[in-house]
Amino acid sequence: EIGFYKDQFVDINENVVPIQERGHQFGDGVYEVIRVYNGKPFLLNEHLDRLVKSAEAIYLELPYPPERIYEIISEGLEKSGLTEAEIYMQITRGIAPRAHLFPTTPSVMSMTIKNARVVDKKKRIDGVTVTLMEDERWKNCYIKSLNLLPNVIAKQKAATNGHEEAIFIRDGFITEGSSSNIFIVKNGTLITTPATNFILHGITRAAVIKLASKCNIPFEERKFDREFLNEADEAFITSTSAEILPISKIDDISLSPNRPITNLLYNEYCGLYK
Ligand code: PDD
Repeated sequence: EIGFYKDQFVDINENVVPIQERGHQFGDGVYEVIRVYNGKPFLLNEHLDRLVKSAEAIYLELPYPPERIYEIISEGLEKSGLTEAEIYMQITRGIAPRAHLFPTTPSVMSMTIKNARVVDKKKRIDGVTVTLMEDERWKNCYIKSLNLLPNVIAKQKAATNGHEEAIFIRDGFITEGSSSNIFIVKNGTLITTPATNFILHGITRAAVIKLASKCNIPFEERKFDREFLNEADEAFITSTSAEILPISKIDDISLSPNRPITNLLYNEYCGLYK
């Protein structure tokens, strides 16, 4: 496992962040999480494109051109010696005396490359339970911002009550999970929340949509509410680390353990990197 902070590789446990880092003091930055399978960062271009979009949305200039970021990632992977890994990278507005106005100092990239967290087999087979919660986040959830307090609190509340994930509801409609997107299947049609500013435009979500098209599974992007979710034939969450994970229960409502479309999509998804 290895770390990177401001132009250099460091030991993952080294203390490197100055007190007056804007990521540290303001959460003033954006991030990405990228999965590495068999030594190759999966959907890397897509993640870096999204990083560029997130940075632009907060008026943040990247400290390096994307080509240099690719180089740092491959150098880091080599140094780490890992082949099944998770790359976390963030860009912050740098180091400057604390004041709200943007500083003129350069932005700072940091990164960790660690062993991948793998979802345990039982959860993959049995599915996971989720709990619905009010979406208390801001209106720019498409930005992969470092400000994750509402997400962290929601995930913790869910876990405290024995659930794997919190699923957010905004104005009566399901948006996404605290760190995942959500899909349902109803009468053979795959459905997910539209990619508006109220959700993160997940890279896994986009991959699943492509796979659905490849497999001729009817697909719709549309808003749906709690009742519609409770009556789903199948439901699953997607994220870089969870991949495609079936939902077995939404609060007290159990879903059928029969999941033909979820299973098909999961097998196809694994085929993308195998
Ligand atoms: N989370 N929605 C939210 C709010 C997320 O934080 C994430 C990812 C997703 C799924 O996006 P993707 O398929 O691109 O990973 C959806 C990452 C994994 C995290 O914060 O750890």
